[in-house]
Amino acid sequence: MKADFKQSKVGLRPAKESDLGFCAELLRKEFSKAPYNEKWTPAKAMRAVRLWARHPKSAIYVIEMGGKRTGIIFGSEFYSEPEGNGFFVEEFAVAEGLQGKGIGRKALALLEKDLKKKGFKALTLLSHRKSKAFKFYQKIGFKKSGMEYLRKIL
Ligand SMILES: CC(C)(COP(=O)(O)OP(=O)(O)OC[C@H]1O[C@@H](n2cnc3c(N)ncnc32)[C@H](O)[C@@H]1OP(=O)(O)O)[C@@H](O)C(=O)NCCC(=O)NCCS
Repeated sequence: MKADFKQSKVGLRPAKESDLGFCAELLRKEFSKAPYNEKWTPAKAMRAVRLWARHPKSAIYVIEMGGKRTGIIFGSEFYSEPEGNGFFVEEFAVAEGLQGKGIGRKALALLEKDLKKKGFKALTLLSHRKSKAFKFYQKIGFKKSGMEYLRKIL
């Protein structure tokens, strides 16, 4: 999928092969912190990003600010009931030191605009209840779905 837009100084574009290291490092750093406390290593993060990049229905976006890489959005297409075409945001992060400056909000607005143009009807994401992002998503129109995320370790 291609993002072909720009809004103010924040931009969103599909990741290239040369961005995968940046994506992995941001993923590792941001999700190693509370409340996520995920046990990332550089090698695990790179493996995750490569797996994601190979997924046929996935999209990895790089968020840019003034031409400099500042964040990532990973997502994929899925069938959303009852709306139809849906997009699932799997990972969303802005680099430390640049958070809280409005970059994430603008990037999500750009993502929504791009997805609407491509015919997507719904945007879904998972958010940790204890993260700062949780309230933010509800402020910008996301509603709790009533579904719970369940896992079984194999
Ligand atoms: C969540 C995240 C992507 C938002 O990007 P951002 O550029 O910091 O967000 P913005 O500056 O556009 O702010 C959007 C809202 O997020 C909130 N927020 C989220 N994380 C924040 C942070 N670390 N510092 C300050 N504000 C934060 C703010 O309250 C703001 O709401 P407001 O504008 O109504 O005050 C970014 O903070 C981040 O990478 N956090 C760590 C990883 C993470 O939690 N990702 C979400 C996974 S679901």
